[in-house]
Amino acid sequence: MPDFTPRVFSGIQPSGGLTLGNYLGAMKRFVDMQNDGAYETIYCMVDLHAITTWQDPAKLVAATRELCAGFIATGIDPEKSILFNQSQVAEHAQLGWIFSCVARMGWMQRMTQWKDKAGKNAQNASLGLFGYPALMAADILIYHATHVPVGEDQKQHLELTRDIAIKFNNDYGVEFFPVTEPVIEGAATRVMSLRDGSKKMSKSDPSDASRINLTDDADAIAQKIRKARTDPKPLPSDLEGLEDRPEARNLVNIYAALADTSPEAVIRDHAGQQFSTFKPSLADLAVAKLAPISTEMQRLTADPAEIDRLLARGAQRARALAEPVLKRTYEIVGMVGA
Ligand code: TYM
Repeated sequence: MPDFTPRVFSGIQPSGGLTLGNYLGAMKRFVDMQNDGAYETIYCMVDLHAITTWQDPAKLVAATRELCAGFIATGIDPEKSILFNQSQVAEHAQLGWIFSCVARMGWMQRMTQWKDKAGKNAQNASLGLFGYPALMAADILIYHATHVPVGEDQKQHLELTRDIAIKFNNDYGVEFFPVTEPVIEGAATRVMSLRDGSKKMSKSDPSDASRINLTDDADAIAQKIRKARTDPKPLPSDLEGLEDRPEARNLVNIYAALADTSPEAVIRDHAGQQFSTFKPSLADLAVAKLAPISTEMQRLTADPAEIDRLLARGAQRARALAEPVLKRTYEIVGMVGA
């Protein structure tokens, strides 16, 4: 394999608001990797992915701008990183088509997110939802990205991205696409619902109390944590004591991720505490870390023209990287005129 420039790519769908799950599972890592200095970093609002399920057009516009504000408010610097929305760089969809011809039906059918999202009504799901992971592979590989920070739920999609890169390279006898490394790190790679410790925290959960939104104000954040479901036992003195206590485990993980420490350290410091004591500490920590993000998002979304300007500039920078990769891909595949 040739040496590839260390390059990070990741994306978030503008299909509703950002949650604490997005922040702790992915966005905190985006910022760390940007500031690390060892990588070029590229972050994307994946609007083409969002429309694999129905999106009201006006809401999609607002959600894309709000997501951009979220990236910046959590620490992404549009000068240091390339920040843009997917539809504005046509090469994503173009490479996505090539990868739709590389990926196999059987690979897609095994995707647990496809099974969960399409449910019993698969015949009525969009073709785009089925082919979603091929476009995701294109998002990553159009930049020859080497590292992809994501939450636990994207792991299978990233394995498929590796399979697509390997099959393309084998089919055409080239060493063109890198085999990317997933970066699934931190204390909270799978943040669970505050109402049900067996379900992932999600923007699509009908209960707003199940999640903390990055747009929630201090009162809402504190109230949701106070009301979070827990069990009646105090916190144990070691991590094994959290087995079979998913709600307690979730709050410990959230605390650790917000405080930039490990779940072990949180347990050590709070051993034996009742939730009536632990929850107010967690609420204070969450408000201190998250309320400034929500305030900054509000400030930024008040100026949509500035956001659009930043996104246009980001797309221009992204295109400059994507164009030569698509051209070379077309040559490899045998497209006259490439
Ligand atoms: P999306 O928009 O559902 O989520 C964005 C990121 O947030 C993470 N995440 C979580 N992490 C921990 N706990 C949770 N409860 C939680 N909920 C969400 C996700 O793992 C993800 O990292 N398919 C992707 C978007 C995408 C993409 C890409 C990602 C499209 N192309 C290329 C990486 C590279 C998605 O739907 O993420």
